[in-house]
Amino acid sequence: MRYGIFSDIHGNLEALTAVLEAYQSERIDTYFCLGDVVGYGANPNECIQCVDQIVSKCIAGNHDWAVLEKIDITYFNLVAKQAIVWTKRHISEAGLRFLKNLTLSFKNNDLILVHGTLHNPEEFIYLFDGMQAAQTFTLMDRQVCFLGHTHVPQIIIQKDQHIFYSPTTDVRLEDDQKYIINVGSVGQPRDGNPGATYCIYDTELKTVLIKRTPYNIEEAQQKIITAGLHPFLAHRLMIGE
Ligand SMILES: [Fe+2]
Repeated sequence: MRYGIFSDIHGNLEALTAVLEAYQSERIDTYFCLGDVVGYGANPNECIQCVDQIVSKCIAGNHDWAVLEKIDITYFNLVAKQAIVWTKRHISEAGLRFLKNLTLSFKNNDLILVHGTLHNPEEFIYLFDGMQAAQTFTLMDRQVCFLGHTHVPQIIIQKDQHIFYSPTTDVRLEDDQKYIINVGSVGQPRDGNPGATYCIYDTELKTVLIKRTPYNIEEAQQKIITAGLHPFLAHRLMIGE
């Protein structure tokens, strides 16, 4: 089985289109999305439509729930809050229906999916440190857990109760190790690389690859400006921060 797993599109249709085109040469059997389909970008409804057509399962991100008013956005920064208000004003009925159906996590024989962390997934905690990773590893009854939320691609490995970070974003799975795979962000990368990020998990080859693709950033930026969203949201796409 070859899985295509991606996250944090954030209404960036240009990035999502590039990622879906890149997947065309990857012989993907099943697609999963790890949430934050909306928020920040100018095409929430179009992104929802694309994701809905292609994925077997999409789980909820904090921006998806914020649009539904299922979480308190007082801790969001001002730009993020404004983007949620904008998205609530522009989301379609079909878009709302899609968001309402998203669950917080998903599991099959091969993997677990969650947006932030496996412990208290409804709190959308950012998995940045070893403590957070340890809590998620403890709750993993599968070898691999895929997540997003930080917009920073990363592979964290647990072996014999030791946790370490892979220096690369591709890995061959060893039977005696568990893996947390942060698949990064399609539509708003924050690791200094502006390329749209996507992941491929091959259960036969036992490989996980996180890949990048360029996309039409200028077009996405122009749409953000024209939509009246905050210009910072356009600027950050170019620098990937
Ligand atoms: Fe996000």
